Amino acid sequence: MELLEKIKQNAKQQNKRIVLPEGTEERTLKAANIAIGEKLAEIILIGSPETIKELAQKWELENINKALIIDPINHSKKAQYVDLMVELRKAKGLTKSNASKLIEDPLYLSTLMIKSGDADGEVAGARNATGDVLRPAFQFVKTLPGISVVSGAFIMIMKDKSFGNEGIMVFADCAVHPNPTDRELAEIAIATGKTTRAIVGIEPRIAMLSFSTKGSASHEMVDKVVSATKIAREMDPSLKIDGELQADAAIIESIGLSKAPGSEIAGKANVLVFPDLQSGNIAYKLVQRLAGAEAIGPILQGMAAPINDLSRGCSVSDIVNLIAITVNQAAGINK
Ligand code: ACO
Repeated sequence: MELLEKIKQNAKQQNKRIVLPEGTEERTLKAANIAIGEKLAEIILIGSPETIKELAQKWELENINKALIIDPINHSKKAQYVDLMVELRKAKGLTKSNASKLIEDPLYLSTLMIKSGDADGEVAGARNATGDVLRPAFQFVKTLPGISVVSGAFIMIMKDKSFGNEGIMVFADCAVHPNPTDRELAEIAIATGKTTRAIVGIEPRIAMLSFSTKGSASHEMVDKVVSATKIAREMDPSLKIDGELQADAAIIESIGLSKAPGSEIAGKANVLVFPDLQSGNIAYKLVQRLAGAEAIGPILQGMAAPINDLSRGCSVSDIVNLIAITVNQAAGINK
């Protein structure tokens, strides 16, 4: 079965509640209609109930009447969420008056619903920029215990099935954190291992990439990757991880054997962790364009609950797929 089909089949077993804060956005509403029809999740739409009902009628989206619709201006939990916002951000100076304004913004309301246990995950970004989707999530949902940094992974489906697990690999961070420290890079590796288990369903073999393999070059940029590998091993001794490795040593068996003999990862990696966002973002786009790989993501990882950011150029099916992925993350986030 294709990976995306597996992800959807698994989502159907989970009964998770996914909130879509851009409830009046056309592609989002059409995707919600499909997700409800395919029983991928219980869908919560944020937006004016009258507008959502009118739009659903106009576009003949008959499943929308099964969604829970939350009016961001008038709903029964508004005061409760405002109190929680003030409690969580009082050290940052958030006043009740400011919180009362912010809670009417669907991107804030959705994160407060998640924080309060009223939703399991969120998909947004068809209408809003990355920073606007992520900031409320960083502030109120925060990161998983032991993780301080959120990052973005891509599932890369290669044409050449000899790489990774039958052509499936995971790359990170390709989307969020520009210049991680060694500890943050270790956290990104741990989080990517969790994503690989939870979403792809395979055991991660993680290569920490650099321009050096096992001391072939010396530079402070290499030192960061060596240190991150050591920290990641200490954080999770069960993790199969090695570094620093060059990309060819990580994925080509003969080169792995000659440059990093004895490594259980070299030549066999299915997860590539890049030293910074420049290399990660460039690499995934080059592999996608030059090697014709399918890139699924970014899947945001390290957050205490799954919140995923769409590209503003996304299609209806991209949103449906991301809803299914978010359900899978919600089911496996603490494993
Ligand atoms: N993980 C966890 N928390 C974070 C992270 C992170 N990666 N980054 C910022 N935060 C937290 C901060 O600690 C701060 O928390 P606090 O208010 O409790 O102190 C809060 O978020 C706001 O921090 P800022 O520094 O103000 O973050 P800002 O909102 O300016 O930026 C952003 C965050 C938007 C993610 C920024 O790092 C960014 O622009 N990253 C690059 C995104 C990008 O352009 N990606 C490439 C394109 S995507 C693609 O091609 C698929």
